Amino acid sequence: MARSDSPFSPASEPDRPADRPGAGPARILVVGGGGRENALGWALARCPGVEAVWIAPGNGGSDAIPGCRSLAIAEQDGDGLAAACQREAIELVVVGPEAPLAAGLADRLRRDGLAVFGPGAAGAQLEASKQWAKALMAEAGIATAGHWAASSREQALALLEQLNRPLVVKADGLAAGKGVTVAESVDETRAAIEAVFDGRFGAAGASLVLEEILSGPEVSVFGLSDGERLVLLPPAQDHKRIGEGDSGANTGGMGAYAPAPLLDAAGLEAVRRQVLEPTLAALRRRGIDYRGVIYAGLMLTPSGAQVIEFNCRFGDPECETLMPLLGPELAAVLLACARGDLASAPPLTTLPGCSACVVAAAAGYPGEVRRGDAISSSLVPSDQLQLFHAGSRRQADGSCVTAGGRVLAVVAQADGFDAAFERAYAGLAEVHYEGMTYRRDIGHQVRRRPEPQTT
Ligand code: AMP
Ligand code: GLY
Repeated sequence: MARSDSPFSPASEPDRPADRPGAGPARILVVGGGGRENALGWALARCPGVEAVWIAPGNGGSDAIPGCRSLAIAEQDGDGLAAACQREAIELVVVGPEAPLAAGLADRLRRDGLAVFGPGAAGAQLEASKQWAKALMAEAGIATAGHWAASSREQALALLEQLNRPLVVKADGLAAGKGVTVAESVDETRAAIEAVFDGRFGAAGASLVLEEILSGPEVSVFGLSDGERLVLLPPAQDHKRIGEGDSGANTGGMGAYAPAPLLDAAGLEAVRRQVLEPTLAALRRRGIDYRGVIYAGLMLTPSGAQVIEFNCRFGDPECETLMPLLGPELAAVLLACARGDLASAPPLTTLPGCSACVVAAAAGYPGEVRRGDAISSSLVPSDQLQLFHAGSRRQADGSCVTAGGRVLAVVAQADGFDAAFERAYAGLAEVHYEGMTYRRDIGHQVRRRPEPQTT
């Protein structure tokens, strides 16, 4: 296609959405390279008025999404991304992962006057520092596990000696989801403390938080914030463990479903009032204008919902699961959040029905993984079936190979969870690569038939 005919060519006279309150953006940049960012690109490109979505850097699947194109700029390259925004007349930037947010990418782009969905470095501390997040929760009166902060090995070991029971050990900083140990004994707690201060998590382990162990099902709640107001998405449940029956090592997430019946409408409203609104108010008291996602990881304990962690971004794979359930107002809503003007946006509708997501990983995940295996797929995407690549890479000859731990996610929707998971697993059976690893029991909490039918 000639560049001048392409929606990906620069807009000649950009009609800035700033002139049209409540209208959606036409040209969007999504920053990140995972399944989450492909799902965001897919959902945004479907919104009316959206002409083109760039995904930087994207992955092997990004260019196959209608309306999306990958852009070979690293997610940390603020100047490169800012230049691309000027060149392509970008009207909205959506930052997917936590690392660039914590490093100040949103602040950098806002300095150029860009509308950015994603908090600045100050707000991203909600995820980037467990101690900071715990202090904010204490100040805001948010229910969370009892905790003790320690900034040296001696201090942490002295606390353990005093408490003399197994605890959760969390490296303070970003550790790619690997900095948490839920210890089963005092010895295991001690070993986890030693590992943090031995530098296993690099700079993330300069200090830590010790926490009481809670128990109960976990649910992820996402609030889209414009700094003052919040729009909540349906609750989702992730599956963190690698093994069936929720066994084995923790991962980034092996599958998810939504809406999770763990929280009904009243339960979700309670989370808004008791967790998300007080968090936003506490952020404002610190002078932080938080425009992006507040992700509350909750544990539903016998004594009520408690916050396990906050993240400053969409969950992955919850995002892949949720995007197909969101209405065509999504782009306008994210832009309104980025402009601090959610009141002007149309209400975000959610579609009825259930969404099921199954992640396929590379052999060895979450440890050392195989890479470079050819991915083949005869899956035909539809309105009810999506394939989102994550750890994949397109080669010069156009073929696609595995390039990371979580390789892809298949997502399906239907009236009920049984049918949604059957459709997702049938879709997954159309995808192949050497060493493909996935759980067959995703959604066991909501399925009547635990074994998928893949015919
Ligand atoms: P995080 O990275 O903080 O989400 O922790 C990873 C996982 O560790 C969570 O999803 C929980 O399954 C578990 N976890 C974290 N904190 C606690 C806690 N206080 N009690 C029990 N399990 C926890
Ligand atoms: N799925 C969990 C996370 O994104 O942190």
